[in-house]
Amino acid sequence: MLELHGIEAGYGKQTVLRDVCVSVPSGSVVAVLGPNGAGKTTMLRVASGLLRPSAGKVVLAGEDVTRTRPYARVRRGLCHIPEGRGIYPTLTVRENLVLHSRKGEQAAAQERAVSAFPVLGAKLRQPAGQLSGGQQQMLSLVRAYLSSPTLVLVDEASMGLAPVVVDKIFEFLRQVAASGTALLIVEQYVNRALALADTVYVLNKGRMVFTGKPGEITDDLFAHYVGAGARLSQHRAGRGRRGSRRRSGLQADALSAAAVR
Ligand SMILES: Nc1ncnc2c1ncn2[C@@H]1O[C@H](COP(=O)(O)OP(=O)(O)OP(=O)(O)O)[C@@H](O)[C@H]1O
Ligand SMILES: [Mg+2]
Repeated sequence: MLELHGIEAGYGKQTVLRDVCVSVPSGSVVAVLGPNGAGKTTMLRVASGLLRPSAGKVVLAGEDVTRTRPYARVRRGLCHIPEGRGIYPTLTVRENLVLHSRKGEQAAAQERAVSAFPVLGAKLRQPAGQLSGGQQQMLSLVRAYLSSPTLVLVDEASMGLAPVVVDKIFEFLRQVAASGTALLIVEQYVNRALALADTVYVLNKGRMVFTGKPGEITDDLFAHYVGAGARLSQHRAGRGRRGSRRRSGLQADALSAAAVR
């Protein structure tokens, strides 16, 4: 569905990504993990066309889209849920939904959004900026469902949210994936990303340092990027230690699991 070949990209004179290759097969879930500043967001921007690479090729649904504008990639089935909340805060929830619906399908889209996240149903007339952080993220994410995209790029959907909200968000992503939509997710909640993903990439300082199945990530690699001596098996078992939210680019969601219990 999406292939990045030998991508080099950056900002001004700063090169951030070097020789980055990623493949997201149709209907699959790919997770990209990596510490802060590794270039994860930059990579998604290249994929959606917000940033043009200085070298390499972007292929979407078999077509070279390296020089294609973002809106044209949207027409080819791509949906990018950006870091932060990709919503219009002064518009109402309903207006936000309308903006992301196809012409003539606004009412159906609203129904779908409310069926995915019932809490939005009671907030349709409220400015989106007045919603809680979790509700704003739901509104942002529900776009992945409104226009039936074939590929969704999700940049840290669970950032800064309460564990129960993170649960809802991952359940939603699981359903989107189960419907056959391919997902490319960048996530701080390592365990949840690993549970959902078919393939995992680890990006560090703009280079891919690991590609494989979630079960193939070694403790060493995990500990190296999680830091604080964390071990993958601990986190897999949900026994990780509490730590600061942004200590590293990777976060074991043992934290949230503990809080939910
Ligand atoms: N708009 C920008 N202009 C200039 N430099 C930028 C811009 N966005 C990111 N960078 C730089 O590019 C590098 C990679 O940033 P990026 O946001 O892609 O990393 P990331 O892996 O998404 O990090 P995080 O986990 O903190 O979200 C960093 O050094 C950052 O300072
Ligand atoms: Mg980022």
